[in-house]
Amino acid sequence: MNKSLNFRNDGGPENRDDDPRGGGIDSRFRMVDGIDEKRVPRHIAIIMDGNGRWARQNALGRISGHRKGAESVRVVVEACRKIGVPYLTLFAFSVENWMRPNTEVRALMRLLVRYLRSELKTMLKNDIRLKTIGNVADLPENVRTVLEGAVDATKHCKGMVLNLALSYGGRDDIVGAVKKIIKDSAAGKIKASEITRESFEKYLSTRDIPDPDLLIRTSGEFRISNFLLWQSAYTELYFTDVFWPDFREPQLIEAILDYQKRERRFGKTGEQLPKESKE
Ligand code: FPP
Repeated sequence: MNKSLNFRNDGGPENRDDDPRGGGIDSRFRMVDGIDEKRVPRHIAIIMDGNGRWARQNALGRISGHRKGAESVRVVVEACRKIGVPYLTLFAFSVENWMRPNTEVRALMRLLVRYLRSELKTMLKNDIRLKTIGNVADLPENVRTVLEGAVDATKHCKGMVLNLALSYGGRDDIVGAVKKIIKDSAAGKIKASEITRESFEKYLSTRDIPDPDLLIRTSGEFRISNFLLWQSAYTELYFTDVFWPDFREPQLIEAILDYQKRERRFGKTGEQLPKESKE
């Protein structure tokens, strides 16, 4: 275990009431060497970018890049489960992605359906609960049916939450929350004086999910691209040149090890942090 790593100042995933693992890593999953078990990010969010460029680099069409990217999804979900990451959010389709050529949008939808169908058994075996954020109502009906089926079938799972951001936009998420607050206020359910950061968060799509500790973006781009804007206020950002189809377990471990070297101060000075968090 790496003794010099910095910390998560919330006591670690194993101490949280909302940890979907219900405390402790499933004994079928061995900790990965080199990762400090006490400082595993509670929530990893990933902007999976570079499928198209990977395809071009390999003289293939864009859809082949997405297909290979779907393989990375499978591998990274399994790896997070094995490592003991309680929450994983994947930016699978942004609200802006609807502007892509129709053939590409349709291919992405097909890949999503194929992934859900082929992985449901594994998700259940590995106790993975599927959730979604975003304007899921925008998805084609056949996709919604498969998605809702998988969300429902896994709702009892406690090992990990796999949260797919679909037709998601961070600004839409915030605007949606504001609209719901206005509605609740008109119904007398909330007063202006009761609107705080904490109460506001309950109106966001991520209300049941902690803020990400680590946000990874692949493919050498340095942008947040309208992903989890409110939620990533204190998130550690990790950028890698690797294209998403090449992002597999070793690259994930590298990102987590990098995260574990950081000191998360949340606005405090290094001296104010709990001693154990700096060991
Ligand atoms: C960005 O690459 C990736 C996407 C817009 C979609 C992500 C989709 C997958 C990884 C596959 C299917 C998903 C699931 C959950 C099974 P890009 O096309 O923008 O790449 P480029 O910037 O190199 O063109």
